[in-house]
Amino acid sequence: REELSFIMIKPDGVQRGLISDIIARFERKGYKLVGIKVLVPTQALAAKHYAEHDGKPFFPKLVNFLSSGPVVAMVWEGKSVVKYGRTMIGATNPLASPPGTIRGDYGIDTGRNIIHGSDSVESAQREIALWFKAEELADYTPST
Ligand code: CMP
Repeated sequence: REELSFIMIKPDGVQRGLISDIIARFERKGYKLVGIKVLVPTQALAAKHYAEHDGKPFFPKLVNFLSSGPVVAMVWEGKSVVKYGRTMIGATNPLASPPGTIRGDYGIDTGRNIIHGSDSVESAQREIALWFKAEELADYTPST
């Protein structure tokens, strides 16, 4: 396998109809979708996902928000997908994200910033294990 990243469209992105646009961006860049599911995360899952922010003032709101509706959890594979995926997503604050990035094109609010992407290869491994079973990830070579 090449590098994997955990990419999740948050409840605001789903509600606003951005699923197809976001998937298209990763596909057109040349990344490979190897896992995808729609679910409403429990508060427990949301808290585990955001464990590194536990104790911060915005943590309860963050957990409530993530479990407030359906998310699209995905695993994308490809060269430097963690780092370049973050470039495609933009900065945490959408107002600090340039046009052309997902958050730069579609958001203005840090708390509703549409999408999550793993910040390191180690985070990606932890997050993928949290959201997916090994057998839910497809291993294939796209035909050309
Ligand atoms: P994300 O990159 O998914 O990881 C942590 C999330 O916390 C971040 O996106 C924001 O949506 C959310 N958040 C809410 N408030 C803040 C804040 N004040 N600083 C940083 N992140 C915040």
